[in-house]
Amino acid sequence: MNFDDSGSLKFKVNRYREMQKMVPGIEALYMLIRSILSTLREARVLVVGCGGGRELQALDGLGHEVVGVDPSERMLDMARPYAKGARLVRGTVDDITGDFDAALSILVMHFLDDKLAYLRAIRQRLRTGALLLLADVNGDPAVLEAFIGPFEFHARDRGVDDDAITASAEVIKSLPIITEEQTIDLFAEAGFRLVSPFFRGLWYAAWWCEAL
Ligand SMILES: C[S@@+](CC[C@H](N)C(=O)[O-])C[C@H]1O[C@@H](n2cnc3c(N)ncnc32)[C@H](O)[C@@H]1O
Repeated sequence: MNFDDSGSLKFKVNRYREMQKMVPGIEALYMLIRSILSTLREARVLVVGCGGGRELQALDGLGHEVVGVDPSERMLDMARPYAKGARLVRGTVDDITGDFDAALSILVMHFLDDKLAYLRAIRQRLRTGALLLLADVNGDPAVLEAFIGPFEFHARDRGVDDDAITASAEVIKSLPIITEEQTIDLFAEAGFRLVSPFFRGLWYAAWWCEAL
Protein backbone atom coordinates (compact mmCIF):
# COMPACT_ATOMS: atom_id res chain seq x y z
CA MET A 1 0.00 0.00 0.00
CA ASN A 2 1.33 3.41 -1.00
CA PHE A 3 0.79 5.83 1.89
CA ASP A 4 1.60 8.80 -0.39
CA ASP A 5 -1.21 8.00 -2.82
CA SER A 6 -4.38 9.33 -1.18
CA GLY A 7 -6.42 7.67 -3.95
CA SER A 8 -5.34 4.22 -2.76
CA LEU A 9 -6.01 5.01 0.87
CA LYS A 10 -9.38 4.75 2.52
CA PHE A 11 -8.28 6.72 5.56
CA LYS A 12 -6.56 10.08 5.95
CA VAL A 13 -2.79 9.74 6.27
CA ASN A 14 -2.50 13.09 8.06
CA ARG A 15 -4.68 11.62 10.83
CA TYR A 16 -2.58 8.45 11.12
CA ARG A 17 -1.33 9.00 14.64
CA GLU A 18 -4.71 10.15 15.93
CA MET A 19 -6.42 7.16 14.31
CA GLN A 20 -3.93 4.73 15.83
CA LYS A 21 -5.85 4.90 19.08
CA MET A 22 -8.45 2.64 17.48
CA VAL A 23 -5.86 -0.18 17.38
CA PRO A 24 -6.59 -2.37 20.42
CA GLY A 25 -3.77 -2.23 22.98
CA ILE A 26 -1.42 -0.23 20.77
CA GLU A 27 0.09 1.79 23.65
CA ALA A 28 1.02 -1.43 25.44
CA LEU A 29 2.68 -2.74 22.27
CA TYR A 30 5.04 0.26 22.01
CA MET A 31 5.74 0.11 25.77
CA LEU A 32 6.73 -3.55 25.41
CA ILE A 33 8.94 -2.77 22.41
CA ARG A 34 10.66 -0.07 24.48
CA SER A 35 11.08 -2.48 27.41
CA ILE A 36 12.57 -5.25 25.27
CA LEU A 37 14.98 -2.86 23.51
CA SER A 38 16.04 -1.39 26.86
CA THR A 39 17.87 -4.67 27.48
CA LEU A 40 20.37 -3.88 24.66
CA ARG A 41 23.34 -1.54 25.15
CA GLU A 42 24.27 1.07 22.50
CA ALA A 43 22.71 -1.08 19.80
CA ARG A 44 22.29 -0.31 16.10
CA VAL A 45 18.54 -0.52 15.51
CA LEU A 46 16.83 -0.58 12.10
CA VAL A 47 13.18 0.56 12.09
CA VAL A 48 11.54 -0.71 8.90
CA GLY A 49 8.39 1.25 8.04
CA CYS A 50 9.19 3.97 10.60
CA GLY A 51 6.53 6.37 9.23
CA GLY A 52 4.46 8.13 11.86
CA GLY A 53 7.33 7.97 14.34
CA ARG A 54 5.84 5.74 17.03
CA GLU A 55 8.83 3.40 17.22
CA LEU A 56 11.23 6.37 17.18
CA GLN A 57 9.38 7.71 20.22
CA ALA A 58 9.55 4.31 21.89
CA LEU A 59 13.33 4.24 21.39
CA ASP A 60 13.86 7.75 22.73
CA GLY A 61 16.53 7.99 25.43
CA LEU A 62 17.63 4.33 25.27
CA GLY A 63 21.04 5.29 23.85
CA HIS A 64 20.77 3.30 20.60
CA GLU A 65 21.90 4.33 17.13
CA VAL A 66 18.68 4.33 15.09
CA VAL A 67 18.11 4.17 11.33
CA GLY A 68 14.50 4.44 10.11
CA VAL A 69 13.34 3.65 6.58
CA ASP A 70 9.96 4.18 4.94
CA PRO A 71 8.88 4.64 1.30
CA SER A 72 6.26 7.27 2.15
CA GLU A 73 7.38 10.89 2.29
CA ARG A 74 4.21 11.89 4.12
CA MET A 75 4.67 9.21 6.77
CA LEU A 76 8.36 10.18 7.12
CA ASP A 77 7.36 13.83 7.59
CA MET A 78 5.15 12.74 10.46
CA ALA A 79 8.08 10.81 11.97
CA ARG A 80 10.63 13.65 11.74
CA PRO A 81 9.65 15.48 14.97
CA TYR A 82 10.40 12.24 16.89
CA ALA A 83 13.65 11.39 15.08
CA LYS A 84 15.99 13.16 17.55
CA GLY A 85 19.36 11.62 16.52
CA ALA A 86 17.89 8.94 14.24
CA ARG A 87 18.81 8.85 10.53
CA LEU A 88 15.70 8.65 8.33
CA VAL A 89 15.83 7.23 4.80
CA ARG A 90 13.11 7.32 2.19
CA GLY A 91 12.88 3.85 0.65
CA THR A 92 12.61 0.22 1.62
CA VAL A 93 14.92 -2.12 3.48
CA ASP A 94 16.66 -2.78 0.13
CA ASP A 95 18.03 0.78 0.28
CA ILE A 96 19.77 0.14 3.62
CA THR A 97 23.21 -1.32 4.20
CA GLY A 98 24.54 -2.29 7.57
CA ASP A 99 24.92 -4.90 10.21
CA PHE A 100 22.26 -4.12 12.82
CA ASP A 101 21.78 -5.51 16.34
CA ALA A 102 18.00 -5.24 16.14
CA ALA A 103 15.19 -4.55 13.69
CA LEU A 104 11.59 -3.46 14.18
CA SER A 105 8.79 -4.12 11.70
CA ILE A 106 5.56 -2.89 13.21
CA LEU A 107 2.32 -3.16 11.21
CA VAL A 108 4.16 -3.21 7.87
CA MET A 109 4.52 -6.78 6.55
CA HIS A 110 0.77 -7.43 6.42
CA PHE A 111 0.60 -4.95 3.47
CA LEU A 112 3.13 -6.95 1.44
CA ASP A 113 2.52 -9.88 -0.89
CA ASP A 114 6.07 -11.25 -0.85
CA LYS A 115 6.58 -11.54 2.89
CA LEU A 116 9.45 -14.02 2.59
CA ALA A 117 11.53 -11.67 0.42
CA TYR A 118 10.82 -8.87 2.92
CA LEU A 119 11.93 -10.96 5.92
CA ARG A 120 15.03 -12.20 4.08
CA ALA A 121 16.00 -8.61 3.24
CA ILE A 122 15.75 -7.70 6.93
CA ARG A 123 17.71 -10.82 7.95
CA GLN A 124 20.55 -9.86 5.55
CA ARG A 125 20.99 -6.59 7.45
CA LEU A 126 21.23 -8.18 10.90
CA ARG A 127 24.18 -9.77 12.66
CA THR A 128 23.74 -13.33 13.95
CA GLY A 129 21.96 -13.19 17.32
CA ALA A 130 20.28 -9.86 16.55
CA LEU A 131 16.64 -9.50 17.52
CA LEU A 132 13.63 -8.81 15.35
CA LEU A 133 10.39 -7.50 16.82
CA LEU A 134 7.56 -7.81 14.30
CA ALA A 135 3.86 -7.01 14.65
CA ASP A 136 1.27 -7.71 11.98
CA VAL A 137 -2.42 -8.30 11.41
CA ASN A 138 -2.71 -12.05 11.16
CA GLY A 139 -4.74 -15.11 11.98
CA ASP A 140 -7.38 -17.42 10.69
CA PRO A 141 -9.77 -15.50 8.34
CA ALA A 142 -12.91 -16.76 10.17
CA VAL A 143 -11.55 -15.61 13.53
CA LEU A 144 -10.51 -12.24 12.09
CA GLU A 145 -14.07 -11.77 10.83
CA ALA A 146 -15.33 -12.37 14.38
CA PHE A 147 -12.93 -9.69 15.67
CA ILE A 148 -14.41 -6.93 13.47
CA GLY A 149 -17.39 -6.30 15.82
CA PRO A 150 -15.27 -5.98 18.99
CA PHE A 151 -12.76 -3.86 17.04
CA GLU A 152 -15.48 -1.43 15.93
CA PHE A 153 -16.88 -1.19 19.47
CA HIS A 154 -13.41 -0.56 20.90
CA ALA A 155 -12.69 2.16 18.31
CA ARG A 156 -16.01 3.90 19.01
CA ASP A 157 -15.32 3.72 22.74
CA ARG A 158 -12.00 5.50 22.08
CA GLY A 159 -13.83 8.35 20.33
CA VAL A 160 -12.95 7.50 16.72
CA ASP A 161 -15.55 8.60 14.16
CA ASP A 162 -17.63 6.05 12.22
CA ASP A 163 -16.16 6.92 8.78
CA ALA A 164 -12.65 6.25 10.02
CA ILE A 165 -13.70 2.99 11.68
CA THR A 166 -15.43 1.71 8.53
CA ALA A 167 -12.43 2.71 6.37
CA SER A 168 -10.01 0.90 8.68
CA ALA A 169 -12.13 -2.26 8.82
CA GLU A 170 -12.14 -2.24 5.00
CA VAL A 171 -8.36 -1.84 4.87
CA ILE A 172 -7.93 -4.77 7.29
CA LYS A 173 -10.21 -6.98 5.19
CA SER A 174 -8.24 -6.11 2.03
CA LEU A 175 -4.82 -7.10 3.42
CA PRO A 176 -2.97 -10.22 2.20
CA ILE A 177 -3.24 -11.75 5.67
CA ILE A 178 -1.62 -15.04 6.66
CA THR A 179 -2.12 -17.25 9.71
CA GLU A 180 0.10 -17.42 12.79
CA GLU A 181 1.42 -20.81 11.66
CA GLN A 182 2.37 -19.41 8.24
CA THR A 183 4.07 -16.42 9.88
CA ILE A 184 6.13 -18.67 12.15
CA ASP A 185 7.11 -20.86 9.16
CA LEU A 186 8.24 -17.71 7.29
CA PHE A 187 10.45 -16.67 10.21
CA ALA A 188 12.24 -20.03 10.03
CA GLU A 189 12.54 -19.89 6.24
CA ALA A 190 14.04 -16.40 6.37
CA GLY A 191 16.64 -17.36 8.99
CA PHE A 192 15.02 -16.45 12.31
CA ARG A 193 14.31 -18.42 15.48
CA LEU A 194 11.07 -17.53 17.24
CA VAL A 195 11.91 -16.59 20.83
CA SER A 196 8.30 -15.89 21.79
CA PRO A 197 5.10 -14.16 20.80
CA PHE A 198 4.90 -11.10 23.07
CA PHE A 199 1.57 -9.42 22.37
CA ARG A 200 -1.83 -9.84 20.75
CA GLY A 201 -4.59 -7.18 20.36
CA LEU A 202 -7.55 -8.86 18.63
CA TRP A 203 -6.47 -9.07 14.97
CA TYR A 204 -2.78 -8.30 15.26
CA ALA A 205 0.03 -10.10 17.01
CA ALA A 206 3.68 -9.39 17.84
CA TRP A 207 6.68 -11.72 17.84
CA TRP A 208 10.16 -11.60 19.25
CA CYS A 209 12.67 -13.43 16.99
CA GLU A 210 16.42 -13.95 16.89
CA ALA A 211 18.54 -13.97 13.71
CA LEU A 212 20.24 -17.35 13.22
C1 LIG B 1 0.48 1.09 9.28
S1 LIG B 1 1.91 2.04 8.97
C2 LIG B 1 2.92 1.61 10.38
C3 LIG B 1 3.88 2.70 10.72
C4 LIG B 1 4.70 2.45 12.00
N1 LIG B 1 5.51 1.25 11.86
C5 LIG B 1 3.83 2.36 13.22
O1 LIG B 1 3.94 1.38 13.98
O2 LIG B 1 3.04 3.28 13.46
C6 LIG B 1 2.73 1.15 7.67
C7 LIG B 1 4.00 1.84 7.19
O3 LIG B 1 4.71 0.92 6.37
C8 LIG B 1 5.27 1.65 5.29
N2 LIG B 1 5.60 0.69 4.22
C9 LIG B 1 4.82 0.24 3.22
N3 LIG B 1 5.51 -0.62 2.44
C10 LIG B 1 6.76 -0.71 2.97
C11 LIG B 1 7.94 -1.44 2.63
N4 LIG B 1 7.99 -2.26 1.58
N5 LIG B 1 9.03 -1.28 3.41
C12 LIG B 1 9.00 -0.47 4.47
N6 LIG B 1 7.91 0.24 4.85
C13 LIG B 1 6.81 0.12 4.10
C14 LIG B 1 4.20 2.66 4.95
O4 LIG B 1 4.68 3.72 4.15
C15 LIG B 1 3.74 3.08 6.34
O5 LIG B 1 4.49 4.16 6.83
